[in-house]
Amino acid sequence: MIPISQPSITRKEIDYVTDAVKSTWISSLGKYIDQFEAEFAKFCGTEYAIAVSNGTVAIHLALIGNRIGPDDEVIIPNLTFVATANAVLHAGAKPVIVDIDPYNWCIDPASIEKAITPKTKAIMPVHLYGHPADMKRILEIADQHKLIVIEDAAEAHGAKAYGKTVGGWGKCATFSFYGNKNLTTGEGGMITTNDKELNARCRYLRDHAMSKEKRYWHTEVGFNYRMTNIQAALGCAQLERISELMLKRQQLFNWYQRELKDVKGVGLNRTSEWATNSYWLICMYYSEWNENERDQFIAKLKSKGVDSRPFFYPLSMMPYLNQQVNTSVTMNTYVKGINLPTYFDLKEKEVEIVCREIKAILNG
Ligand SMILES: Cc1ncc(COP(=O)(O)O)c(C=O)c1O
Repeated sequence: MIPISQPSITRKEIDYVTDAVKSTWISSLGKYIDQFEAEFAKFCGTEYAIAVSNGTVAIHLALIGNRIGPDDEVIIPNLTFVATANAVLHAGAKPVIVDIDPYNWCIDPASIEKAITPKTKAIMPVHLYGHPADMKRILEIADQHKLIVIEDAAEAHGAKAYGKTVGGWGKCATFSFYGNKNLTTGEGGMITTNDKELNARCRYLRDHAMSKEKRYWHTEVGFNYRMTNIQAALGCAQLERISELMLKRQQLFNWYQRELKDVKGVGLNRTSEWATNSYWLICMYYSEWNENERDQFIAKLKSKGVDSRPFFYPLSMMPYLNQQVNTSVTMNTYVKGINLPTYFDLKEKEVEIVCREIKAILNG
């Protein structure tokens, strides 16, 4: 079976994790936490980085850190993993769902403008499947309406918009280091920011909002959103390898493109001319599919030993989110897309096998 994803664990990861365990610093203090935060901030070009337990709580902490809560609206794209919306709900705010750009599938700036109300407090673009949202346009809109921008960069470590790395565009950004990400700590997340006050507030809230001056004194509701030194050790090893990890994903895209470029109706990830894609997942788009046909394709591919995933369901389809929105681009896109195996150890030969099976199934 060729899986959809698998982490790349080398001697370096094993050595660093072993060192962390042997050091006895196995909770949330230790040299690897400090190193991982410092190095990840450098990687994103930001002043600060705050390591947390996962990408979902990173968003929650970023929202609470910015004092976003009840009565506030946060604009998010309809095509994203559900964590984006859930974190807004956890903060007590309302997620306002808007459409995506038909070319790069990230949040559509024109749709953002239309959704702004007096209650709007923030825009949360998602850099979907490794493609950055149009941060130049989004920042213009945010400046004009005095809105906070929080980048959900869970899927896009190292992607760039207009030559600038994601994570440093908004007031802050959030990342996930789940096992299938370009850089993993098993479970884990990060907030990046250039804002000194926000950095201090997120650190304080991450640790039960404990007073810096008076131990075990708390003045508001805080959280235990800390990352362990063991996870950070894994992160440090991965970050030292980030160039090769990223290069390989570009290479995977090139191989898939070479194999599938002549197949009628099939497209892969499209990258806007101002963007550098980090290719979290290779996306295959087939213009003829409805949802049923797509699901049958996934099942057939699986029977040939190749795992794949459908695109996310649009958030607006989730009954509990209770939003009737007109997002025709999202609705037309999601049924036609799947994610193909994308991971560091995937070989050229295996990509050829995957593509041979795809062509065989499409040719019926
Ligand atoms: C866009 C997006 N936001 C947030 C998250 C949440 O990250 P985590 O799974 O680390 O909580 C994910 C996870 O894949 C994601 O894809």
